[in-house]
Amino acid sequence: MKTAKEWVRGSRSLCVLTGAGVSAESGVPTFRGEGGLWKGRDPVSLATPGAFAEDPGGVWEWYQWRRGKIRGCAPNPGHLSLAAVEREKPDFLLVTQNVDGLHRAAGSRRMVEIHGNIWIVRCTGCGAERDERGDFETLPPRCGSCGGILRPGVVWFGEMLPREASEAAAEMLDRCEVLIVAGTSAVVAPASGYAAAAKRRGARVIEVNPDETPISGICDAVFRGRSAELLPALLTD
Ligand code: OAD
Repeated sequence: MKTAKEWVRGSRSLCVLTGAGVSAESGVPTFRGEGGLWKGRDPVSLATPGAFAEDPGGVWEWYQWRRGKIRGCAPNPGHLSLAAVEREKPDFLLVTQNVDGLHRAAGSRRMVEIHGNIWIVRCTGCGAERDERGDFETLPPRCGSCGGILRPGVVWFGEMLPREASEAAAEMLDRCEVLIVAGTSAVVAPASGYAAAAKRRGARVIEVNPDETPISGICDAVFRGRSAELLPALLTD
């Protein structure tokens, strides 16, 4: 830990990639593993453009349920330590796969949400977007201006990542000296390839995760445990 802290402190540019595990201690369910959102559910029937085209109301029911679960959740010390470290590092980027908005709630600003945000709703007709925190009475909800069906502002399987966010992530991976990968199973592309990309260029890669993942073997340091404890230990304590 002492050595890894020195790498982080001494780095001119720091990138952090987060996944669902970082919000686990805030009470947000992860996707994989026991109690995960995909346990007993088929991602293809819920998180693809095809599923939405076939049954927008059904897909929305699932998102409305998830929004309800996330609404009562607050950032944990892991989120807070990431917000604190960005104020100290001139060159910093947080890349999150999480759609729950908890990094922003914790104060993170130099951040890209590569899988979108569950609080954003976007019209499939006119493209208008807004931040909507409330529940919708009728599902699927419709656009107040054009009457088109609204969709959650998240990235579904088979869709492109938001361009600005993925470009910013790629640029940071190209120059960061240290990459911390926390709370992700590292099985969903393109984020699953970030550790290898940074490593190829000579960056130090640090993993924070209670379980082994496909990237564990290439990491320069691996911390097995919860990010709400380990991220503050690594970044701010
Ligand atoms: P996963 O649910 O696949 O993985 C969560 C990871 O967090 C696992 O490796 C756990 O071991 C780890 N974990 C659990 N509790 C933790 C804790 N307290 N501290 C740190 N780590 C912990 O979630 P993601 O990797 O984020 O995409 O999943 C990637 C993408 O797959 C998601 O963004 C979503 C999903 O399908 C889309 O919906 C497009």
